[in-house]
Amino acid sequence: MPRPRPTIGAVAEENELPGDGAASSGPSADGALLARLAADERLRSGAPVHLRPIRPADAEALVSFHDRLSTEAVYRRYFFSHRHLTPAEVEHFTTVDYVDRMALVAEVDGRLVAVGRYERLTGTATAEAAFVVADEFQRQGIGTLLLEHLAERAWSVGITAFSAQTLAENREMVSVFVASGFPVEMSSAEGTVSVAFSIAPGDAYRQARDTRRASAAGGPTGGSGDGSWPDGAAPGR
Ligand SMILES: CC(C)(COP(=O)(O)OP(=O)(O)OC[C@H]1O[C@@H](n2cnc3c(N)ncnc32)[C@H](O)[C@@H]1OP(=O)(O)O)[C@@H](O)C(=O)NCCC(=O)NCCS
Repeated sequence: MPRPRPTIGAVAEENELPGDGAASSGPSADGALLARLAADERLRSGAPVHLRPIRPADAEALVSFHDRLSTEAVYRRYFFSHRHLTPAEVEHFTTVDYVDRMALVAEVDGRLVAVGRYERLTGTATAEAAFVVADEFQRQGIGTLLLEHLAERAWSVGITAFSAQTLAENREMVSVFVASGFPVEMSSAEGTVSVAFSIAPGDAYRQARDTRRASAAGGPTGGSGDGSWPDGAAPGR
């Protein structure tokens, strides 16, 4: 039986891309929103990393980021060998509505080194999430930061849970989810692990996040979107 692929990473033919139309029907992102969704954080080493919403102008940087990924990283993200992004994929991945389809890029020294995204499953309060970090920047905390900031944005627009598909051998991805402090539930089939969890910012999540931040040398650099959610915050736009 063929291995299921993540919906969010499925590479469809042109005009069949999932979620097409969301960008035009969603609210247009103004500069203030984009700035509010950006954040300055630190890698585990203490080096600064900038997170910000993706923009159509990131097309070239995304192509070159993808082209530099190892075969293994690409396979783990898409579940098949996919050496180059097609123009339709580049447009799809860089054009989001920042509500139901959201993507954050991470930049180090102005270079795009990671992308995390979520896409709301139509008609539900759940979004599928996916991440990819440049090989040389893995295990430095970027995947975890992207998860935190994406969950914060998703929660603020009424999405209450994330789901994800990952290969069973992808210990790093599973670790990021489990260590997040969210109440992760997993099931496996056909060599893949399906993960689902509420993104309500509960005590366990806050504690795990605060511990991570305290251990990151220097802590957050004080940019906007510091991930501190108001106690008892309820989802809503
Ligand atoms: C999976 C992936 C996204 C993880 O991203 P990452 O930036 O390497 O993840 P992080 O550095 O945040 O976390 C990796 C590990 O560090 C730990 N960690 C992160 N920040 C930490 C901190 N401040 N202190 C201690 N541990 C920390 C995490 O818990 C995790 O645990 P592990 O040590 O047991 O592996 C990345 O490896 C990748 O891009 N892989 C290829 C594509 C892919 O697999 N995508 C998944 C498809 S959904």
